[in-house]
Amino acid sequence: MDHFLYRNGTLFAEDVPVTEIAAAVGTPFYVYSTATLQRHFRLFDEALEGTDHLVCYAMKAASNQAILKTLAQAGAGMDVVSMGEYLRAKAAGVPGDKIVFSGVGKTSDEIRTALEGGIRQFNVESEPELEAINAVALSLGKVAPITVRVNPDVDAKTHAKIATGKSENKFGIPISRASAVYAHAANLPGLEVIGIDVHIGSQLTELEPFRLAYEKVADLTQHLRSEGHNIRRLDLGGGLGIPYVRSNDAPPLPVEYGQLIKDTLGHLGCEIEIEPGRLIAGNAGLMVSKVIYVKSGEDRDFLIIDGAMNDLIRPAMYEAHHDIVPVTEAEAGVESQPYDIVGPVCESGDTFAKQRNMAPLVAGDLIAFRSAGAYGAVMASEYNSRPLIPEVLVNGDQFAVIRRRPTFDEMINRDTIPEWL
Ligand code: LLP
Repeated sequence: MDHFLYRNGTLFAEDVPVTEIAAAVGTPFYVYSTATLQRHFRLFDEALEGTDHLVCYAMKAASNQAILKTLAQAGAGMDVVSMGEYLRAKAAGVPGDKIVFSGVGKTSDEIRTALEGGIRQFNVESEPELEAINAVALSLGKVAPITVRVNPDVDAKTHAKIATGKSENKFGIPISRASAVYAHAANLPGLEVIGIDVHIGSQLTELEPFRLAYEKVADLTQHLRSEGHNIRRLDLGGGLGIPYVRSNDAPPLPVEYGQLIKDTLGHLGCEIEIEPGRLIAGNAGLMVSKVIYVKSGEDRDFLIIDGAMNDLIRPAMYEAHHDIVPVTEAEAGVESQPYDIVGPVCESGDTFAKQRNMAPLVAGDLIAFRSAGAYGAVMASEYNSRPLIPEVLVNGDQFAVIRRRPTFDEMINRDTIPEWL
């Protein structure tokens, strides 16, 4: 459920007409709903009620500080994967003891910054990383809390580019080597081993892969405890999918996911962390764009819009489907027609949808891409020298620009010309 609904034929973001935002900021832009962000966070939080837990929002999904602050005020921690994300979370006011640091390639600089600024734990992905964190911690006279990310070799049954829990993926250590790696970690004086971490992939639409992974984590917890490790925190990653196509065939709900966690791991008495990103932000955001031309091809009509693959890359990168709706609904009874919906970038891959049925549109009409809140703005680039598009946050009947559109000069003047030219 989200808060982007039609009223009298006009699409609203909460209590604000999308047309009003478009008039204020121009197109294309991203718009997020505070109520939807809060609601999705709460669904996870409530799903784990009765269990000691922290929902650490995977901020890679949408990292604007206004979004982070909205979620932090609701009680969220953050899952970060880079120096930039760590500093952004801190800038948004998230305390270090609510930030977990994931990622396969943490540099010594990143580790130092996090240890100095405060960190809940590092989710360690390899033995060399254990050594690196140990060395930095010792140099600072600190002890770093860590979990080790295990790779459970489970098929997440999702798009190959976002599956992470198979043995051929670069993530985590093979679960079969866990004993040896934990023994190694326990011998490093700069580290305190506190738990286990697992994340098997993104946009999972079934619970079964989670069950398989979490059962392995349960067994491993007992095994490591029998070897003397004080395993007291389990970080279960993110990955629960969202309904990109509105149909009856929706992915499992957070409450069902929470029940699965309790069923598979509840008996261990561990503190539980989860790292959802997409489910919190995905359906909390739209990308709004304007039709520039309607072009008749030989056998099809193209809607050429002012948004492009550099603004929302998911269709080009993962063949992802986004529902696309008119901002002003057609009169009842108007017949739809198929369009190829494309951006202005000079690549055939700059195609958002092929033969999508829409009520007839004309130049100047606004359309909205649903489910664009996660992995939308954060994956944007300036390809074709197109400035990053603005982000807007709605809260009830108010809205605010939370990242403005840069001017062309700002974009161009970042280049510097060497003196020999
Ligand atoms: N934790 C870790 C360690 C992760 O790698 C990820 C996502 C998450 C949590 C959050 O997963 P979520 O709940 O959002 O599924 N750009 C792709 C998705 C990449 C996901 C990467 N890791 C897309 O647009 O579909």
